[in-house]
Amino acid sequence: MKKWVLMLVMIGCLSLFVAFGIAFSQAAKAPPEKTSELLAMGKKLYEQNCSPCHAPGGDGKGPLGTVLKPPPRDFNLPFDQWTHAKGDLKKVFDVISKGIPNTAMVKWDQLSERERWGMTYFVVEFAKPKTPTKK
Ligand code: HEC
Repeated sequence: MKKWVLMLVMIGCLSLFVAFGIAFSQAAKAPPEKTSELLAMGKKLYEQNCSPCHAPGGDGKGPLGTVLKPPPRDFNLPFDQWTHAKGDLKKVFDVISKGIPNTAMVKWDQLSERERWGMTYFVVEFAKPKTPTKK
C-alpha cells in the first residue's frame, strides 16, 4: 500500500516538472517586453546595420537604398501598409530573422532574438501616423 502512495507522489512531482518546463520554454519564445532599454538597443543596431539601405530616418533613401531594386521599404508608411508586415509585429520580426528572398533584404539571424525584437520595435516607431500595433 505504501509503495503506491509513493508512486503517486512521484508521478505528481514529475508532471509538475513537465508543466513548468513547458511554461518556461514558451515564455522564452514570447516577445520580450518593449522597454526603453530595448528600444535604445534597437536604435543602435539599426544605425549600424540597417541605415545604409533603410536610411537613418527610415524612408529607404539611404546611400545604398536608392540604387536597389526593389527599393527598401519606406518605414514612414502607416504600419498596416507595409508590404510584408501588414501591421503585424511578429511579421516584422520574421522578415528581420529570415530575410526576403530575391531582394537585398537578407536575414539577420546572427543577431540574438532579443536584438531582433529591439530592431522590430524600433523600425515600427518610424510608421506615421502611429497605428495601434497588434502583437
Ligand atoms: C542591403 C540593403 C538592406 C539592408 C542592410 C537592410 N534592409 Fe531591410 N529591406 C531591404 C529591401 C530592399 C527591402 C524590401 C524588399 C521587398 O520589397 O520585398 C527591405 C525590407 C525590410 C522590411 C519589410 C517591411 C515590410 O513589411 O514590407 C523590414 C521590416 C526590414 N527591411 C528591416 C530591416 C532591418 C531591421 C535591417 C537591419 C538589421 C534591414 N532591414 C537591413 C534592404 C535592406
